[in-house]
Amino acid sequence: MENTLKTIDSKELSPSLQAKAIISGLTRRGFLLLTATLGSCAVADPLLGTVRPSAKPGSSAIKTPSNTGYQTPRIRGTVPTNPDMTMGTDFSSKSGISFSRVLVSGKYIALTFDDGPHPQNTPRLLNMLRARNIKATFYVIGRNVELYPQVVRRTVAEGHEIGNHSQTHRLLSKLSDSQIRSELSRCRDAVNRAAGVQPRTMRPPYGGLNQRQREMVHAEYGYPVILWSVDPLDWKRPGPAVVSSRILAGASAGGIVLAHDLHAQTVDAMPATLDNLLLRGYQFVTVSQLLAMKNNSPVHQTAVAPAAH
Ligand code: NI
Repeated sequence: MENTLKTIDSKELSPSLQAKAIISGLTRRGFLLLTATLGSCAVADPLLGTVRPSAKPGSSAIKTPSNTGYQTPRIRGTVPTNPDMTMGTDFSSKSGISFSRVLVSGKYIALTFDDGPHPQNTPRLLNMLRARNIKATFYVIGRNVELYPQVVRRTVAEGHEIGNHSQTHRLLSKLSDSQIRSELSRCRDAVNRAAGVQPRTMRPPYGGLNQRQREMVHAEYGYPVILWSVDPLDWKRPGPAVVSSRILAGASAGGIVLAHDLHAQTVDAMPATLDNLLLRGYQFVTVSQLLAMKNNSPVHQTAVAPAAH
């Protein structure tokens, strides 16, 4: 825990998140007491106040806190590790509305895990990621965030990114605009209460969101809609070896891998998957880092898509 606190870049954290990072090292009783105290600070903290007004289409870069500056304490020896990533996480709202991959010149790849947090499988996955210095993006369900806020807190404290996967995981394309807003706002607020950060991107459950709805969500929340380029169908529980081989077969530079951290088999598949991708030269980034790369390297947008590896 001491390492964690020393290595978090305070400039990238809101005061509330700094406080929460500190309390994560306390006992549950101490935590509850401090939570009550923090609640009264919430009004003063714009991040914990009401909804950030919508980003105007075409306006400046989206700026919400992230903690990707966190550097994992070095664990030497047993597994390959991802290099430290110092790249930015700010992307422009002009960079696009929907993404299933991003054209980049390097062998960068973004791992995403949906439908958590899960009280056992997510922490187990976090241990695997930490050992390899890998940062991922977690598209959480607001209802689960409310059940296991401490897992989201740890996820954020360890430098991962949180995305909005709605409050109750309904098929958003079948809902009214006001119901979609409710689903996204409630999830966003649950993440904010749990960990003091706001999601910066969203993934619709089942990938279901029509173009008009995507534009509405992008205009009102500033969220790019993040789909995927690799789907191992891990929710069908085909076994860890199959999950792993499907991800390895589909991996490519600029790719976005879809997986689900609530399934034990998916987490079981990760050590071999991660080590194999690292040995093949992939570097893991969060979704915002991947989007920021597109933003910062316009030349890559016109490049020929790299072949799959
Ligand atoms: Ni889902």
